Amino acid sequence: MPSRRFANLHSRLERNAMVFTLAILLVCSVGGIVEIAPLFALENTIEPVRGMRPYTPLELAGRMIYVREGCYGCHSQQIRPFRDEVERYGAYSLAAESAYDHPFQWGSKRTGPDLARVGNKYSDAWHTQHMADPRSVVPESVMPPYAFLAATALDPARIAAHVVANRRVGVPYTDEMVQEAAADMRAQADPEADAAGLHRRYPKTSVRNFDGQPELTEMDAMVAYLQMLGTLAEFDWRRPDPAMLR
Ligand code: HEC
Repeated sequence: MPSRRFANLHSRLERNAMVFTLAILLVCSVGGIVEIAPLFALENTIEPVRGMRPYTPLELAGRMIYVREGCYGCHSQQIRPFRDEVERYGAYSLAAESAYDHPFQWGSKRTGPDLARVGNKYSDAWHTQHMADPRSVVPESVMPPYAFLAATALDPARIAAHVVANRRVGVPYTDEMVQEAAADMRAQADPEADAAGLHRRYPKTSVRNFDGQPELTEMDAMVAYLQMLGTLAEFDWRRPDPAMLR
């Protein structure tokens, strides 16, 4: 009987640990190969989207504070392509929108809402107040307060090194961006500063005193980062236009 023969073969296989391990690896790798192999045949798995640019030094500093504070533990930054997500948060996230994120902050835990498109949703004053004391603006909030951000000075001395580190992992920062990193960081939070160079290096950059205090603080960086989220990519997701994808 063929089933008996198969059982015999299987019992022999099971008793040979080495061969059995190899057989398991072979079977398990099929799923992987089916998913991974086609990617090698594609020219590019991330379609570039117009409008994306590396983060400004101030936004990058805000992003590092976001990572440091573990905001990721309660907030995702990836809008899934489902109707309920899109109606609540806006256009679903594109891969290109997190191409410059090292490490990415997609997340899967949502104690709070997704933040991928929170930019321009609230005023700077709202964010400053909300970060300092969430329950003063959203009474039922369970978000912890981060008032110390407004009391912690932001030191521009080390930002160039962080820009270089990001360049090393593939973010297209130029030599000029590295050189001007500290100055650009100060200029973005100072409406009196000459920001022509900053605007040329980083299009669509908002220059404001984000936290409303004269000093440059971690709150400036955090609010600058939050207000940029989801505002860079230029695409009409309701009517996909191939010309928008370079
Ligand atoms: C313990 C979970 C938790 C942590 C940690 C947390 N948040 Fe929140 N966050 C929430 C909840 C819940 C809300 C919704 C209520 C509210 O607006 O306060 C929220 C709301 C927000 C909003 C408003 C979003 C919107 O669309 O209304 C922003 C912005 C935000 N959080 C930023 C941050 C940042 C930045 C950090 C890290 C410094 C952080 N959160 C850490 C739970 C958290």
